[in-house]
Amino acid sequence: MAPKNWTKETFTLNTGAKIPAIGLGTWQSKPNEVREAVKAALLAGYRHIDTALAYGNEHEVGQGIKDSGVPREKIFITTKLDNPYHKRVEEGINSSLKSLGVDYVDLYLMHWPSSTDPEDLKKHYPDWDFTDTWRELQKLPESGRVKNIGVSNFAIKNLEKLFASKDFKTTPAVNQIELHPNNPSPKLLDYLKEKGIHATAYSCLGSTDSPLYKNEELKKIAEKKGKSVQQVLLLWGLQRGTSVIPKSVTESRIKANFEVDGWELTEEEQKAISGLTERFKVCGDDWLPVKVFFGDDE
Ligand SMILES: NC(=O)c1ccc[n+]([C@@H]2O[C@H](COP(=O)([O-])OP(=O)(O)OC[C@H]3O[C@@H](n4cnc5c(N)ncnc54)[C@H](OP(=O)(O)O)[C@@H]3O)[C@@H](O)[C@H]2O)c1
Repeated sequence: MAPKNWTKETFTLNTGAKIPAIGLGTWQSKPNEVREAVKAALLAGYRHIDTALAYGNEHEVGQGIKDSGVPREKIFITTKLDNPYHKRVEEGINSSLKSLGVDYVDLYLMHWPSSTDPEDLKKHYPDWDFTDTWRELQKLPESGRVKNIGVSNFAIKNLEKLFASKDFKTTPAVNQIELHPNNPSPKLLDYLKEKGIHATAYSCLGSTDSPLYKNEELKKIAEKKGKSVQQVLLLWGLQRGTSVIPKSVTESRIKANFEVDGWELTEEEQKAISGLTERFKVCGDDWLPVKVFFGDDE
């Protein structure tokens, strides 16, 4: 089979909607940078932008979308409900739509399974948890303001709790999770596949100052392919069936991260990358009032 043209590929969600295989991440993009980055990405051909209320950049992301001139309906926009908004889902989504300057988002994720008390970010509500938040999120697609709902940072244990909750009706379309060769989570990926939940890989390059860029095995494969380590990392994620959302505010990198068409990693190369044994997580749960990772992902 010919290698895929990933920039034109989509993955089909359990709702029938199609999520573009590659998107632009926007976490930690500094003010005034992200507007340009979003515009550059859309002009380079990206059709998926990932943002969140918590990133404080939805307004600029919306401006970048408008600047690009790409019609709204051609773009897949993902945003996320912030932890202190779990009891205020309506307020959360309305705030995101207003900031983005759009009347719907394609995917709305519960950012973390933590219903944090806005009065004290170290406290979890005693009378509310993520199953209550999901009950409220389930109501959104009806209104047309949200096309698909999903979760993020959900481990198997919390997904099981969600499925067993009394008001559970809608299976999340997506679980957006940290995935890179130092946090490959094969058990969680198998579980998601079995449940029909698509996985989007965040920090797919290993995030800021990624140690993966210096990895000898990755460098060797990149050199052999005549590609960059970053492009190899993206291919590894895509060939595992996950969508990828690399973040960059640098135009040349935004373009390079989209040059992934017409070549592929062999099974052997894919296996060698999956076989890297070092482990690290960019996003832990120490800063949250509840534990959300249980070491049950591999
Ligand atoms: N759901 C969640 O809880 C969650 C958590 C984390 C991230 N995310 C999402 O996932 C996105 C991606 O994750 P991430 O931001 O942690 O990290 P990432 O995409 O793995 O890596 C971003 C870093 O890599 C650099 N970079 C990008 N392309 C490069 C290239 N071709 N060559 C060299 N360096 C390159 C960027 O630098 P420059 O920008 O300076 O070019 C930036 O420092 C986020 O932006 C966000 O949208 C979601």
